[in-house]
Amino acid sequence: MAVRRVLKMGEPLLRQVAAPVERFDVELEALVRDMNDTMRALNGAGLAAPQIGVSLRVVIFEVADNPRYPHLSPVPFTVLINPELTPLGTEQAEGWEGCLSVPGLRGLVSRYTHLRYRGVDAHARPIDRTVRGFHARVVQHEVDHLDGILYPQRIADLRDFGFEDVLGAQMSPMPD
Ligand code: NI
Repeated sequence: MAVRRVLKMGEPLLRQVAAPVERFDVELEALVRDMNDTMRALNGAGLAAPQIGVSLRVVIFEVADNPRYPHLSPVPFTVLINPELTPLGTEQAEGWEGCLSVPGLRGLVSRYTHLRYRGVDAHARPIDRTVRGFHARVVQHEVDHLDGILYPQRIADLRDFGFEDVLGAQMSPMPD
């Protein structure tokens, strides 16, 4: 079990474009294991490799009885490497997002509601899924990390940005 330090907004590595994974080896397996341990320890819905200081195109996510998102339907645990996203249609929806690299804060962000994503898992097996709602939101949030983008950069009106404990009831549940 290795829970790694999560980099916070302001650290230069979080602004870099991460490199594609080329070797599917034990080092990659160790990275995914550490990401998983870290995400679980912090009750995150997802984590991108740059958040633990590794600038590679690897994200993981899962929503299963997550105390931070009690109202959401489950998303299966996924290791997604070298992802490609294709929005299906132009429809977007607003939802309140948080991020382990931006602790204590929440912001309202528009994301595509319907999305196809492709990539491979840690054993280079292909993944090809069409998803909606919160699943689509999580994938867009995590893949943004690989391009050096944190969700505050996506907030249209910075009045919709604040501390989670203060916002409380002002935040409507995320669309599901
Ligand atoms: Ni994040």
